[in-house]
Amino acid sequence: MTFDILTLFPDLCRSYFEGSILGKAVDRGLIEVRARFLRDWAEGRHLVTDDAPYGGGDGMVMKVEPVARALDDLRAERPGARVLLMTPQGRRFDQAMARRLAREPGLVFVCGRYEGIDERIRSLVDEEVSIGDVVLTGGELPAMLIIDAVARLLPGVLGSAGSLDDESFADGLLEYPQYTRPAEFRGMKVPEVLLSGDHGAIARWRRRQQLRRTLERRPELLDAAELDEDDRAWLTGLGRKD
Ligand code: ADE
Repeated sequence: MTFDILTLFPDLCRSYFEGSILGKAVDRGLIEVRARFLRDWAEGRHLVTDDAPYGGGDGMVMKVEPVARALDDLRAERPGARVLLMTPQGRRFDQAMARRLAREPGLVFVCGRYEGIDERIRSLVDEEVSIGDVVLTGGELPAMLIIDAVARLLPGVLGSAGSLDDESFADGLLEYPQYTRPAEFRGMKVPEVLLSGDHGAIARWRRRQQLRRTLERRPELLDAAELDEDDRAWLTGLGRKD
């Protein structure tokens, strides 16, 4: 899968994809990540990519033409790629969106910067995406966050595919608690059942821990999660009202 980040700060993006698990996925040819310098599509002696706002006001506004030219080229280069605009006004990114985006052949990220973007840039993209109700100085971190979340879902990128099934949000619930050696640390003991070797009991315990955690920390997730009768009975026992 290909990821192209259209940005005024390409160097900011590169190092993240050189090290770590994602760097290995790049080396193995599973993903390709390219930071593309928006100024390469700017025109004139000064290669401007922003200008003063019509109607007055503080700050500069990202111009539409360089983005339009860049997207014409990137769409030709990456047929079928989905073009995403990073903006706090976009649809909120979550694990379900990560799974949907992981089915695309490629993603192109348009990173806003400065105080704003020309409104017409919105008409050039397939979708507007926000990483949460928070305002950052640019779309580069959101783009990298989304690439990280999407790339790790692709076959072969993570060592073991099993860990994807068990992790938080995979089935709409938070993940169960995990432990490794030692069996006791500063008086905190690993739950007995995990040392028992009884796989049925362990699976049951994990499921109940997931439900308890989700009820305590993110109860709204339970409304959309797939729950069976045992799950509901356990939650009722914990004090959840349907
Ligand atoms: N650019 C600035 N803030 C952002 C956010 N919350 N999501 C996506 N892009 C952004």
